[in-house]
Amino acid sequence: MTLCVRLLLALLLLPAVPALADSAGQRPAGAPPQGAAIASAHALATDAGFEVLEQGGNAFDAAVAVSAALSVVEPISSGLGGGGFFLLHRASDGRDVFLDARETAPAAATADRYRDADGKLDREHSQNGPWSAAIPGLPAALVHLAGEYGQLPLSVSLAPAIRLARDGFPVYERLERGYAARREVMERYPGTRAVFLAGGQPPRVGQTLRQPDLARTLEALAARGFDGFYRGQVAKDLLAGVRAQGGQWTAADLAGYAVKEREPLRFGYRGWEIVTAPPPSSGGVALAQMLQVLAGWDLSRQAPAQRAHLTVEAMRRAFRDRTFYLGDPDFVHVPVDVLTSPYYAAGLRATIHPDKATPSDVFSGRPTPLEDEETTHFSIIDAQGNRVGATQTVNLLFGSGLVPPRTGVLLNNEMDDFALLPGQANAFGVMGFEANAPEPGKRPLSSMTPTFMLSPDKVAVLGTPGGSRIITMVLLGVLGYADGLGAQQVAALPRYHHQWLPDVVLAESGAFDAETAARLRGMGHVLQLPGDTVSGRGSSHSWGNLQTVALDRRTGELSSGSDPRNPGGKGEVRALEAAGK
Ligand code: DON
Repeated sequence: MTLCVRLLLALLLLPAVPALADSAGQRPAGAPPQGAAIASAHALATDAGFEVLEQGGNAFDAAVAVSAALSVVEPISSGLGGGGFFLLHRASDGRDVFLDARETAPAAATADRYRDADGKLDREHSQNGPWSAAIPGLPAALVHLAGEYGQLPLSVSLAPAIRLARDGFPVYERLERGYAARREVMERYPGTRAVFLAGGQPPRVGQTLRQPDLARTLEALAARGFDGFYRGQVAKDLLAGVRAQGGQWTAADLAGYAVKEREPLRFGYRGWEIVTAPPPSSGGVALAQMLQVLAGWDLSRQAPAQRAHLTVEAMRRAFRDRTFYLGDPDFVHVPVDVLTSPYYAAGLRATIHPDKATPSDVFSGRPTPLEDEETTHFSIIDAQGNRVGATQTVNLLFGSGLVPPRTGVLLNNEMDDFALLPGQANAFGVMGFEANAPEPGKRPLSSMTPTFMLSPDKVAVLGTPGGSRIITMVLLGVLGYADGLGAQQVAALPRYHHQWLPDVVLAESGAFDAETAARLRGMGHVLQLPGDTVSGRGSSHSWGNLQTVALDRRTGELSSGSDPRNPGGKGEVRALEAAGK
């Protein structure tokens, strides 16, 4: 009997049990935040956010500044040529909104474009150059954020990013290393060479990287809003640059792009209310499944091996469902209500053997390399209690590698996040079927999971890059806060990950001690610890770049946590003169 059938049977045969986790509800803050907190993956972006807060901006203006600054100083991770998700909380009316600025498939990008002559997935097309790029969403998000939620004009909130693009910023080790890894693809394109080989040599630590074309594109966005990017000269240059490399974007693809405001997903976990990413992210649904499965146990009372076993089993089941059911809700029916129901979670929970791993034996899987320098997350709480959790990306290292000449805009390779060939794993080793098949205008399924968690005493904002591992990192972060850890401890927590297929638990060093690892192996889990080689591939030693901020609702005290795996990140709390105005 396949796992699928077994799970289904268990589900049908089990009496439904009531929700074990009830929602904490939102209580008005007892004390206002003492200043503002920002955590991001680059110190210059965190500083850009504070600069805008000091000019009287709110968290949403700061989010524009941080997002755009990251787009300039972290081209390895995200940018105007990519997309992202922004989870917002507006203090004045208590409204939570999920701003979906995910890229969309251009009309010409149908599945057959990504198959070679033998019908196999053409990874060259899906990961490099013009066909890998979907229509960017980030510029539209910045315009929407500033116009609908901010207090300052884009000319002010984009000023730090424009300055960083025009005057340059110091190249850092992660950028130099990432460029070296992606150099061959990037240097195929004249527009990309003009940015990254402007000094004749690839970017080196200590050099200043200036992006004058990108500064002009940001200025056009500041001056003309949506039209400054999606229509007019920048749009013409984007279309010409894509076409010159054999791609097929149209003016209608660009002008038709729209950000979507969606209702965030909400559920309870043992006294916490979790507010998180709905589809086209798979992260919130998976988080709801995993946490509601785990809510059946008091994890703080479980021995480490037992806790890890239960958590891995919850991960396995959530990723199985991701494979079959998740996609863009504007194109396919995603059974969110069923998947996130506590009754469904209770059924899944009952299929977990207390001390035996359930084999993921429906298909054979194989580990694929998981990269983790790309994508970026930032978290903000301002003095009014507004909150932003945003994860933005160009997908893999430096996205498609293609910068259309004169734009300074490095295009994403988000098309690889679609299930371009049914059942074929993408760069993160996750696969999908019809729900995530490409269609014109459709958003590829994402794992990005910006998340809020609230209890009567605490509010936390968290998220991270890491492809499919984003979801399990956010899970472990939520469990860490629920255990009472502080923001910096949550950012530093050792990580482990299971994604159904391959049927392997990846773990960072420090995640399991020797006894826990031995016990897990004894239960039938295949562990891949740093240095181990499973199925011919070694495990990366660490992953993720989690950025989080938190507020103690009783005292108003703020805290921040910036992932120690990225020494260039910065979490900071500042008491601000202008904050709260
Ligand atoms: O949206 C997604 O799930 C991916 N494009 C995110 C890529 C990512 O996190 C890469 N980082 N390691």
